[in-house]
Amino acid sequence: MQIRIIGTGSYVPEKALDNQALERMVDTSDAWIRERTGIGSRRITQTGTTDMAIRAARRAMEMAGLSPEELDLIVVGTSTGDCLFPNTACEVQAALGAKEAACFDLSAACSGFLFSLNTACVYLESGVYRTALVIGTDSLSKTVDWSDRGTCILFGDGAGAAVLKKEESVSRVGPFLMKADGNRGEVLRCMGTPLRNPFIKEETDAKESVMGETGEQKSEENETDFGYLSMNGQEVFRFAVKTVPEVLEELLWRAGVSAEEIQYFVLHQANERIIGSVAKRMKQPLSKFPMNLEHYGNTSGASIPILLDELNREGRLRKGDKLALAGFGAGLTWGATFLVW
Ligand code: UT7
Repeated sequence: MQIRIIGTGSYVPEKALDNQALERMVDTSDAWIRERTGIGSRRITQTGTTDMAIRAARRAMEMAGLSPEELDLIVVGTSTGDCLFPNTACEVQAALGAKEAACFDLSAACSGFLFSLNTACVYLESGVYRTALVIGTDSLSKTVDWSDRGTCILFGDGAGAAVLKKEESVSRVGPFLMKADGNRGEVLRCMGTPLRNPFIKEETDAKESVMGETGEQKSEENETDFGYLSMNGQEVFRFAVKTVPEVLEELLWRAGVSAEEIQYFVLHQANERIIGSVAKRMKQPLSKFPMNLEHYGNTSGASIPILLDELNREGRLRKGDKLALAGFGAGLTWGATFLVW
């Protein structure tokens, strides 16, 4: 029995923010953004991470022809969930009516979909579950400092999904690889809810200073201080152009196939120059590296499943095609997955 993808789906918000609009917000230009990244526009959500996940999931489930009750597992790769809890997967479960499914989110930033896909495959391989819905969904727009031209030009929002089933088939998912280097976390970071409790000395002092005579707390204490995404772009660039070819080469070796046999390399859509550099290192034509980042920017954990769904719906994937998926992101994390379509 093999694990195969029986349905894909994706969703991007309607609101588009093009480079010309960004020119009016920060000191940048369409020419600079296109030349350095390949990005022309991005989509911005007005409904949030869960809503996008549900829309992508519905499309994937419809293609799969699976009823929600048949789903055993829902894994959502996201680092921008609407809530700290419940997790996004539980909210998707409720919306779909997938009442038998175990549900959890997985945080690996832009590697989130690949890590979720690989994790779901392990459950299916081991026989614990037979079906799974895997989603990559992110709203980086809410973590971006819209006055920082070094980052706000890069990211967009979206979601992509795939439905997996274990059955007799020539199609298969795997082998796969997941890598991490926690020592380099500072290169790309976004702080979450600040630590705030009455037992932290500084907080207590600050609290005392805003207490009224009645002991009533003033509004300052309720102000939240969520961090913005911070990034050393050049470091991330160097990391990506080194690790993505390495992980792809290891993947192909494990799968026992050559780069020439791969129909498409479906890579995380971060920067056209990164993808070009990987193609060069792999000695493969750029035509084997489909891209949609011109329209959506970097949608983080959603970029690979959105691209996969587009290829699928455009009829560009034929049965038996060999695909290599690879991504990288904060953590630092990176990984790859081999597919026979
Ligand atoms: O999912 C992973 C997410 N992260 C990534 O994939 C990021 C990977 N890194 C990159 O894509 C690139 O490093 C960037 C696109 C972020 C930046 O491109 P770069 O070629 O590395 O530019 P740079 O940071 O070296 O900056 C070059 C110049 C600087 O000006 P000076 O110091 O040479 O005068 C920047 O201040 O470009 C300036 N600059 C800009 N100019 C116009 C930086 N951002 C902008 C901008 N518009 N948006």
